[in-house]
Amino acid sequence: MTETLEHHFDETIAHERRIEPRDWVPDGYRKTMIRQIAQHAHSEIIGMQPEGNWITRAPSLRRKAILLAKVQDEAGHGMYLYSAAETLGADRAELTEMLISGRQKYSSIFNYPTLTFADVGVIGWLVDGAAICNQVPLCRSSYGPYARAMVRICKEESFHQRQGYELLMTMMRGTQAQRDMVQDATNRFWWPSLMMFGPPDASSPNTAQSMAWGIKRHTNDELRQRFVDMSVPQADKLGVSLPDPELRWNAERGHYDFGAVDWDEFTQVVKGNGPCNVQRVAHRRKAHEDGAWVREAAMAHATKAKQPAELER
Ligand SMILES: [Fe+2]
Ligand SMILES: [Fe+2]
Repeated sequence: MTETLEHHFDETIAHERRIEPRDWVPDGYRKTMIRQIAQHAHSEIIGMQPEGNWITRAPSLRRKAILLAKVQDEAGHGMYLYSAAETLGADRAELTEMLISGRQKYSSIFNYPTLTFADVGVIGWLVDGAAICNQVPLCRSSYGPYARAMVRICKEESFHQRQGYELLMTMMRGTQAQRDMVQDATNRFWWPSLMMFGPPDASSPNTAQSMAWGIKRHTNDELRQRFVDMSVPQADKLGVSLPDPELRWNAERGHYDFGAVDWDEFTQVVKGNGPCNVQRVAHRRKAHEDGAWVREAAMAHATKAKQPAELER
């Protein structure tokens, strides 16, 4: 029996068809997929914090409306993704518990602080830009519900990136102080953005299996290179420099060469020692605890709705 099921799974992957919730999958596939989707969902939710920090201090009503919409989009992304994880048998409450107890990770980028309003623009440009590089190939993920969620998410991420770039363009046309803010934010976010693609291929032991299962489509280094190639001309057009003296066009490779990422810093941030790790998780935990009454009320309502006859009596 298992043999037939396994055969069906292998065939589905081999023919680039989608795995759906009703299909049998190997335990390893289910675990890897749940972990990936959960970490992605957590990243969307925690990612609301650095930018949320600026909603009350946005410089105009227009910027506030844009930023609010963007941060709300991220909440929506988190919700789709938790739902996708549920189709694999994961329990949403348990995933949240894993996040606030530090047992499950989210993207290291959100452990950096947002010091000025230019950070809002640079996050849109570089962080959402890196997210797009990572996520566009996931629209072809072998797991159907995840792939379909990614189609909509990517459309919204591309709006996020453009709003960030437009904000930076506006600041670059402003005063010298504004241009300095953009350069400073770029300097702080460039390297952490490169870290968003994960460790180098040589030290990414799960990549091969994830690629064989169609969970991953390109290696970390391939995606990082794509991001660098895309960002250099954008930085030129904006008029900012990227903080890497080794960055230069390599005609032979047809790509930009770039300097070494500080993987010790990455390891420290992933381990929980980044500038904002403690604050981010504490804030999420508090929001979860403060929302307990909403969950209780929703549960009470759901129970009542199930027994309409009894209510009428
Ligand atoms: Fe998002
Ligand atoms: Fe986004």
